[in-house]
Amino acid sequence: MKVASCLPYLLFFFFFLTTRTVHSLPTFFPRAPQQSLLQSAKDPELPYSTHFFPQQLDHFTFRPNSYNVFHQKYLMNSTFWDRGPVHTAPIFVYTGNEGNIEWFAANTGFMMDIAPRFKALLVFIEHRFYGDSLPFRKKDSESAEELGYLTSTQALADYAVLIRSLKKNLSAEASPVIVFGGSYGGMLAAWFRLKYPHVAIGALASSAPILQFDDITPWSSFYDAVSQDFKDESINCYEVIKGSWDELMAVSAKKNGLVELSKSFKSCKSLHSVYSARDWLWTAFTYTAMVDYPTKANFLMPLPANPIKEMCRIVDGFPRGASKLARAFSAASLYYNYSGTHKCFDIENSTDDHGLSGWNWQACTEMVMPMTCLDECMFPPFTYEYKDFENDCKDKFGVRPRPHWITTEYGGYKINQVLKRYGSNIIFSNGMKDPWSRGGVLKNISSSIIALVTEKGKKLLTLLLFGLTIWTSDLRRKKILNGLENKGIRK
Ligand SMILES: *[C@@H]1O[C@H](CO)[C@@H](O)[C@H](O)[C@H]1NC(C)=O
Ligand SMILES: *[C@@H]1O[C@H](CO)[C@@H](O)[C@H](O)[C@H]1NC(C)=O
Ligand SMILES: *[C@@H]1O[C@H](CO)[C@@H](O)[C@H](O)[C@H]1NC(C)=O
Ligand SMILES: *[C@@H]1O[C@H](CO)[C@@H](O)[C@H](O)[C@H]1NC(C)=O
Ligand SMILES: *[C@@H]1O[C@H](CO)[C@@H](O)[C@H](O)[C@H]1NC(C)=O
Repeated sequence: MKVASCLPYLLFFFFFLTTRTVHSLPTFFPRAPQQSLLQSAKDPELPYSTHFFPQQLDHFTFRPNSYNVFHQKYLMNSTFWDRGPVHTAPIFVYTGNEGNIEWFAANTGFMMDIAPRFKALLVFIEHRFYGDSLPFRKKDSESAEELGYLTSTQALADYAVLIRSLKKNLSAEASPVIVFGGSYGGMLAAWFRLKYPHVAIGALASSAPILQFDDITPWSSFYDAVSQDFKDESINCYEVIKGSWDELMAVSAKKNGLVELSKSFKSCKSLHSVYSARDWLWTAFTYTAMVDYPTKANFLMPLPANPIKEMCRIVDGFPRGASKLARAFSAASLYYNYSGTHKCFDIENSTDDHGLSGWNWQACTEMVMPMTCLDECMFPPFTYEYKDFENDCKDKFGVRPRPHWITTEYGGYKINQVLKRYGSNIIFSNGMKDPWSRGGVLKNISSSIIALVTEKGKKLLTLLLFGLTIWTSDLRRKKILNGLENKGIRK
C-alpha cells in the first residue's frame, strides 16, 4: 500500500477556530478542512471488522454517573495473527485521534503492511467523542457538562481498559502490545507507553508534537517551519505569499472591495469579511505543508505529489507584473480544487458537520499550544496573547483552559533526562518537512528511546522494523526462558 510512505509525515491537527477572528488577529488559527472529511469519512472497503465495547464514562471518580456506559468503536483484523505455541505474537494497537477511526485506519496502511512479518493482530480504537464513540448522543448540543469527559487522560484509560478486556477475551494475555499513532494519536501512543507500561511494551509515535506545550518549543516554530517549506521550494514563492496579505487588505479597503474580492476569489456567495478570504488562503498553505507527501494522496484533500512544489510552480509561472494576490489565490486553488470539481468556492461556510468541535474543546481545555508568527513567517504577523485565547474559550465553552496541565500530567521539560531514566521502548518518527516535527522529539534519548528524523520514508521503515523486532523478540525470548525455568523447577 502506497500510504505506508506517509506514516512518517502523517499528521495534522485541527486548530481551535476562534469566533472572533474578524476582530482579533492574534488568536487566529486556520480552520479545519471540513469538506474533505466528509469525502473520506467512511471507506466501505476497509479490511477490518467493526466492534463495540461498553466503555465506562469516567475512569477516575466513583460517582454514580461515572458508571454510565457508552459504546466505543474498534476495528480489528486477525488474518495474520498467529499466536504459535507460546502465544506471543504481538498485538498492534492504533490509539485513535480526533476523527472517526476509519479515516485513520485507511491512512495507516503501514500497520497492515508489516502485520504479516510480525504475525500481528491489528486493532484500531476510536477516541471517545469522535466518530461513533459518543458518550452523549446529541453531538451538536454537547455542553461543557458533557464535554468535560473529553480528555486525553480518559482516552488513555479507555484504551487500557479495552486492551485488557480484549486480551482476556482472546486468551492473549501473553501477547505483547505495541501502540501506534500519528499526530495527536502519536502523542497518545507515547504517553500511553509512559503511563501504562504494564499494558504496552512499546510505542511508535509519528509526528507527535509532545513538546509543543508551554514554552518548551519556541512559539514561532510551527509557522516558521511552514514558511521554510515554501522558501526551500522557491524564495520568490515565499515572498509572493508573504506579500499577498497587504494586497488583500488593500483591495478590501477599496470602495466595493469585497465585491471585487468575491469575484476574484470565485466565491459562491458574496463575502461579508475580508478575513474569511484571508483564512481561506492561510488554511490552504498551512495544511498543504502538513501533507506535503512525495506521492499523490488524499488525506485532507486530493493533492498531487509534492503539492508545495506544485503551488510554487503556479506562483512562479505567472507573467511578470501579475499581482501577488492573484498568484497566491491561484496557488491556494490547487489545494481546494485539484480534483477540478468546484465551480466556485465556499469561502465563508464553516459549519461543523463532522464533530470537529471535539478538537476545539480539547484545544480550549488541555491542548493549549501557543503559536506566533514573527519575522520569518510568511503569514500576517501575530503574537500569542493568552488572555484573548482564554476569553475566547470562556465565551465559547464556559470554561477556562489549563495551559500547564499537559506538562504537569505527562512531562515535557527536561525530557531527555527524565525519559532516559524512566522511559523505554518509544520510537519517535518525524519527517522534517512536517511543521509539527519541531515540537517533536528529535534526538535519541537512550538506546530504546529513539528519534528517527528523515526526509524520506525508506530508511526509517527499516529502523522501525528493527526496533519492533527487538522489543517483541526480547519478550519472546524471556517468555521462553521463563517457561523453561519453570519446568526446571518443577522437575
Ligand atoms: C484482513 O486483512 C486481510 C489482508 O488485507 C484481508 O484479506 C481480510 O479480508 C481482512 N479481514 C477482514 C475481517 O476484513
Ligand atoms: C469481552 O467479552 C465481554 C463479555 O462477552 C464483552 O462484554 C466485552 O465487550 C468484550 N471485550 C471486548 C474488548 O470486545
Ligand atoms: C476548478 O477546476 C476546474 C478544472 O480545472 C475549472 O474548470 C474550475 O473553474 C475550477 N474552479 C474554480 C472555482 O476555480
Ligand atoms: C454550508 O455548506 C453546507 C454543506 O455543503 C450547506 O448545507 C449549507 O447550506 C452551507 N451554509 C451556508 C451558510 O452557506
Ligand atoms: C538514533 O539512533 C538510530 C539508531 O542507532 C540512528 O539510526 C538515528 O539516526 C539516531 N537518530 C538521531 C536523530 O540521531
